[in-house]
Amino acid sequence: QVERTPLIAGNWKMNLDHLQAIAFVQKLSWALKDARHDYADVEVAVFPPFTDLRSVQTLLAADKLSLKLGAQDVSPHESGAYTGDISAQFLAKLEAAYVIVGHSERRHGHGEDDATVGAKARAAAAAGVTPVICVGETAEDLAEHGAAAIPVAQLEAALAELPKGAEFVLAYEPVWAIGSGQAATPEQAEAVARALREAILRARGEEAAGSTRILYGGSVTSQNIAGFMRQPNVDGALVGGASLKSDEFSRIIQFKK
Ligand code: G3P
Repeated sequence: QVERTPLIAGNWKMNLDHLQAIAFVQKLSWALKDARHDYADVEVAVFPPFTDLRSVQTLLAADKLSLKLGAQDVSPHESGAYTGDISAQFLAKLEAAYVIVGHSERRHGHGEDDATVGAKARAAAAAGVTPVICVGETAEDLAEHGAAAIPVAQLEAALAELPKGAEFVLAYEPVWAIGSGQAATPEQAEAVARALREAILRARGEEAAGSTRILYGGSVTSQNIAGFMRQPNVDGALVGGASLKSDEFSRIIQFKK
């Protein structure tokens, strides 16, 4: 059994401008220092809007902070006439370790299909930025197909585009649980995470299935995080609303204590 370092990731979505971001990251790092947080035990990453990345990167480098940086989206293209796009190379230059691809707010709000999500994951991996591939079913999908079918199909479609051997993180986010205050139960999250790990085993073999981290996302708080983290196939959380309050996010990170 491979040891997987838990990852607690804060997806800020379209919140906090670059000045607010600097203040927030400073507060968070003080809170974690006070709590003597050991980053070897639990990896922590923040995913600010594009316009904050440079400020946060500078702060992390200057203060030698062990927080990782991630972006919320990336272009599937390398460079060229793609107005408004941000390339994976640009993110790599800013030392972004991760980038979210296929968040439901992009799939449903911006009409991104599985092929686009896969192409984005491939572009990220090619630039050395680890894609955090998001999958999840809507309430209608759940009623019609059960919980795991759609997330597994979305994963398989993304992996069809991603070269073998490329590292990735998976985030299972049931759409009905996002921002609703109605999180999945730890057992529901575990059942889908297990099905996703089996799909990784089929597509990528044992090593990838053992080492790939699967996060749960959807109304995670300091009150419910421990239940998710006790599940054998859940290796962390992708946190939205609760990642915008430094005290609450720091309590989530300290889920063991
Ligand atoms: O990507 C994280 C997100 O979609 C979950 O949001 O606010 O329910 O924690 P929230």
